[in-house]
Amino acid sequence: MSKLSLRDLDVRGKRVLVRVDFNVPTEERDGKIFITDDTRIQESLPTINYLRDNGARTILMAHFGRPKGRPNEKYSLRPVGLALHDLIGHPVAFSHDCIGADAEAIVREMKEGDVTLLENLRFHAEEEANDPKFAESLGKLSDGLYVNDAFGAAHRAHASTAGVTKFVRQAAMGFLMEKELKYLHEELAQPAKPFLVIMGGGKVSDKIGVIKALMEKADTFLICGAMANTFFKARGIPVGASRVEADKLDLARELLALAEKKGVKLILPIDALETQEIKAGAETHQTGRLSPNDGVRDGWQAVDLGPESIRLFQSEIARAKTILWNGPPGIFEIADFAAGTRAIAEAMAKSDAVTIIGGGDSVTAVKQAGLADKMTFISTGGGASLELIEGKDLPGVAALTDAS
Ligand code: 3PG
Repeated sequence: MSKLSLRDLDVRGKRVLVRVDFNVPTEERDGKIFITDDTRIQESLPTINYLRDNGARTILMAHFGRPKGRPNEKYSLRPVGLALHDLIGHPVAFSHDCIGADAEAIVREMKEGDVTLLENLRFHAEEEANDPKFAESLGKLSDGLYVNDAFGAAHRAHASTAGVTKFVRQAAMGFLMEKELKYLHEELAQPAKPFLVIMGGGKVSDKIGVIKALMEKADTFLICGAMANTFFKARGIPVGASRVEADKLDLARELLALAEKKGVKLILPIDALETQEIKAGAETHQTGRLSPNDGVRDGWQAVDLGPESIRLFQSEIARAKTILWNGPPGIFEIADFAAGTRAIAEAMAKSDAVTIIGGGDSVTAVKQAGLADKMTFISTGGGASLELIEGKDLPGVAALTDAS
């Protein structure tokens, strides 16, 4: 069932309550908070600017970090409000509480085109508990109009993403939400073939659902990162001191058997870069061709793809027509272990396939490589993108008003 879009709302002069995902990475320097990646704020600008251009009074609400239901200055959204002010070139009023008399007074004073940012929703435990009274207090700040543009939080059934829709007249998708659903849902429903999935990162147990769901559509999987170690071990390849989920060996075998049954190519790295210490400048060594007789050495751990694996991955990327990448193949935060990650990003940037980066660390990797604008789509969601690709209903989307 398709959902109402922001374009369907008559917003002129109205107070519109907008859920955004401003959960951005920050760092503290000299007692000041700096936003280290403002992508999520930038990506919400089409919705905010549209509302301003159409004479709405825009009330933004968001969470920031996990303050566990209590006010905590460390998790204040105030620095985000200042950054947003610079981006839209218009003052952003800030309410120190997301509900209550002060918030109500601030939004009452708003003029057409004005923007208010409410303090972190998660300063109230009722937000994550999806408490109806709290949701009602949020809803009544608006003139019955609500927009959800927080794709990254749409897998949470919280008061601001789900409960609040019961207390407004119309609940619509924002433009970022629409874009995320278009690429991660519609585009991947019938991907141009061959469809290649590159799955890396830490744990196979975090990705079982998504791997199983993608087995129905993908032609090839490249499994890499620490996750590959569990598959190596399941195949009897020595992994030295590499990270392994020892209790997930049967699961890895099950996924290998499932791929075989479905005629899906499931490819693991054929060599690796190994080290004894995870730090810049540490001694490294290339393994030979990985096999039960020749694996990662005792006391060493695999930290990146080896050169043969890079060539293999590049040739699979070159022949694909749709590529979905989630999770890096190495510890790319350390430059010495980043060659595999960089090679994947560069090969994807060169390809004319539909290239989708499905959230998390691979997004950071692509940005660090300066290749973000060479990809078809980069998701702003981590958990939300995995759940959507897995085929789960996202509560933050399901709760919106159906389009007639
Ligand atoms: C994210 O950063 O993935 C989203 O903002 C959701 O945050 P959460 O995992 O704390 O709910």
